[in-house]
Amino acid sequence: MSTELRKTDYYRELARKVLPKNFWTEKTITADFIVERASGSYLIDVEGRKFIDLTSQWSTNNVGNVHPAVLEAAIEGLKQYGFLIYGLNLHKPVFELAQELLRIAPSKKLTRVALELSGTGAVDAAVKFALGVKKRPHIISFLGQYHGYYTGTLNYSPESAEARRYYESFLGSVSILLPYPYEYRAPAGMSGEEWGGFIVDYIEDNILRYQAAADRIAAILFEPIACEAGVWIPPDSFIHGLRKLADKYGWFLVADEVMTGFGRTGRWFAIEHWGIDAELVPLGKGICGGIFPIAAVYGSEEAMASEVIDYGTTFGGHPAGCLAALANIKVMEQERIVERSAKLGEKALKRIKDWPERYEIVGDVRGRGLLIGIEFVKDKRLKTRNPESARTVYIESIKRGVVPLMDSGDWTLRVQPPLTIEEETLMHSFDVIEEAVKIAEREFKQSS
Ligand SMILES: Cc1ncc(COP(=O)(O)O)c(C=O)c1O
Repeated sequence: MSTELRKTDYYRELARKVLPKNFWTEKTITADFIVERASGSYLIDVEGRKFIDLTSQWSTNNVGNVHPAVLEAAIEGLKQYGFLIYGLNLHKPVFELAQELLRIAPSKKLTRVALELSGTGAVDAAVKFALGVKKRPHIISFLGQYHGYYTGTLNYSPESAEARRYYESFLGSVSILLPYPYEYRAPAGMSGEEWGGFIVDYIEDNILRYQAAADRIAAILFEPIACEAGVWIPPDSFIHGLRKLADKYGWFLVADEVMTGFGRTGRWFAIEHWGIDAELVPLGKGICGGIFPIAAVYGSEEAMASEVIDYGTTFGGHPAGCLAALANIKVMEQERIVERSAKLGEKALKRIKDWPERYEIVGDVRGRGLLIGIEFVKDKRLKTRNPESARTVYIESIKRGVVPLMDSGDWTLRVQPPLTIEEETLMHSFDVIEEAVKIAEREFKQSS
């Protein structure tokens, strides 16, 4: 046993020595497991222990870890094409993927597709299209949203003040930042809907009056659900209000579906829940089933055909990525994965919906499809955030073989399993998380 355990310790030591000390490595090191293999809904660590993967690797492996058909397609793509740069040698998989993506697009307005390599690249490209086509210097974006850590996306990605530290001089020039409304944290005396409407009105009443004229704003960039922030589901008034403002002032709506796309929320794309159009939609993560990096941006005719916008990246639209994405779409349709996400998501929420009444530290549970958040608080009335209990639940769940997700909204534990996860496995995971909640609640009561 002790020899076995030394393997994990060896890799943890190695990680300490060779990786930058940052949030990710620190989290991995304390979580005490190092993955050696992934398959379906499971991760197998270097000690041979099996863990249920409730992260789907940040909503990338939506069709399960290492889906064989997607893997096969990528391997065949590599054998046939190796790498070709699509800006230089247009290749077949690029057109085929663009056509397939347009077939499943969330809006008829979206008629073109640019291919990218990462979600960050896709958002950055979308903003470049918006600013370039509109020939305007600003976009409106929302606090808590995450669009990437590169300096471009950090500008519109105020996910955390910590992530922006020392980069302030790069930032702040493009984005006008406003709060992102969600029901649970609506200001006292306001409903979620009222808060959503208030933010929309604030843009007209204050931003346009005092900060930037409407014709200096190119777009509104928003996550249809703010995932990294902690699964903030916005009120209808907010989403519909943004669309109305965009129509009134000739702005683009840029809906970042990097995380929410590809079935995560029980629809192909989250904006379908509201039935609104967007002019630019960045995609990433789930597009290729996690097998080969690729990302994309949907664009309307105005966004992508009215001006020549100079942009690109070497590996964007890699043939193997295109073929993986094509296979992924096929698998998702054949296995009816989007419907599965919706149905299983409902059952999952039902399983945990009474936790806020039963546990002092659980403030709220919410979700759409298999994008679920459990928010921890110290005080139900004041809604004081409780990252300590959330972390205990995270660590205790992992000790028991279940890996949930935690990030910058670190008082909210997230459950984002592969959309293919077996129902019993998912329900068993909630039993385990509940056990961990009980432990955290005991600790919380003892310490307060
Ligand atoms: C909504 C959203 N946009 C963009 C990104 C950046 O994607 P990537 O990490 O692939 O660059 C992420 C990553 O988590 C995301 O959640």
